[in-house]
Amino acid sequence: MGANSLKRPAAWLMRLFAVLLALLAAPLALAADAPAAKPPGDQVADYWREVRQGVPGLSQVQGAESGVLINAEGQAWRDLRNGPIKKYGGTILLAMIGVIALFYLIKGQMKLSAPPTGRKMQRFTSFERFAHWGTAVTFVLMGITGLAILFGRTVLGPLLGSEGLGGLLALGKLVHNYLGPVFLFFTILLIGAFLRDNVWQKCDAAWIAKAGGLFSGGHVPSGRFNFGEKTWFWLGVTFLGLFVAGTGLILNFPALMDRTRELMQDLVLLHAIGAVILLTLSFGHIYMGTIGVEGALDSMKSGEVDETWAKEHHEIWYDDVKAGKSGHP
Ligand code: HEM
Repeated sequence: MGANSLKRPAAWLMRLFAVLLALLAAPLALAADAPAAKPPGDQVADYWREVRQGVPGLSQVQGAESGVLINAEGQAWRDLRNGPIKKYGGTILLAMIGVIALFYLIKGQMKLSAPPTGRKMQRFTSFERFAHWGTAVTFVLMGITGLAILFGRTVLGPLLGSEGLGGLLALGKLVHNYLGPVFLFFTILLIGAFLRDNVWQKCDAAWIAKAGGLFSGGHVPSGRFNFGEKTWFWLGVTFLGLFVAGTGLILNFPALMDRTRELMQDLVLLHAIGAVILLTLSFGHIYMGTIGVEGALDSMKSGEVDETWAKEHHEIWYDDVKAGKSGHP
């Protein structure tokens, strides 16, 4: 086919026809490659599979994760909360109560070895007692409502039935959410009130070496607070108290800062773990502050202690006050 023949009308027609053919054939060729349309049942199954995997879809609702219909991590979270956290949390709480009961049965109350003098010394100011009992009362209420939220279904469900339990948990959650910031306020007040008395002192080393005379029954001199109380102050009140109250505050205001569900789920778990450890430690403090040490509760109720009590439990503080010093390290 010479150069001239390509210029003929027929040839152009041929070319046009070929192009048209190609254009028409392209979609068919593409359609032939495209996977066969799935039956509607399979398409729905695929859709729900993606939804369950947490694949975000389109949604008119604004906000973080608004396109996520099912939170895939939710099941894992529920398994963790209702599994190890409840199981081990419940175990250490009950174990601590068991250890304290056993200690009380074996050692009994720590009594004064000398009779009281009848002369009183001021141990706590009214502000310190206000900060203490504000923290203690809100803490106990937070503890009860928090334990009900975590263990209520298992422990109280069989007793109260779902309606009774529902009502109690709704009330408990209300108290828990509104009292949380109040507990945080008092905890900060308490930390401020006792901070300067919880610094390290030389006598703490001897106290640690003899475990405070807890097992030997011997007398170990200490400042205004002994090392056991300082541990409760730093680990319990300050670190765990602020951690639990702080995570609780974030959980109280979910709409602030566009928080993701994932973050809130993690915070709930951390909050619960921190709270269980704090509660466990507080059992020791509450035991010592009620029946464990003779005369201890009076010190936080009236703010005064007998000189014998001060000498036997906080000898260095007693000597300082008797010497006219403040008693603060
Ligand atoms: C019903 C519960 C409670 C009782 C009966 C109780 C009793 C006492 C008593 C008697 C003292 C004085 C001890 C002494 O004279 O050395 C004391 C001190 C103290 N309590 Fe409590 N308490 C309770 C709950 C709490 C709670 C929930 C917290 C904090 C979360 C707390 C934090 C403190 C602190 C920080 C001190 C001073 C000791 C130190 O700073 O090292 N208490 N408590």
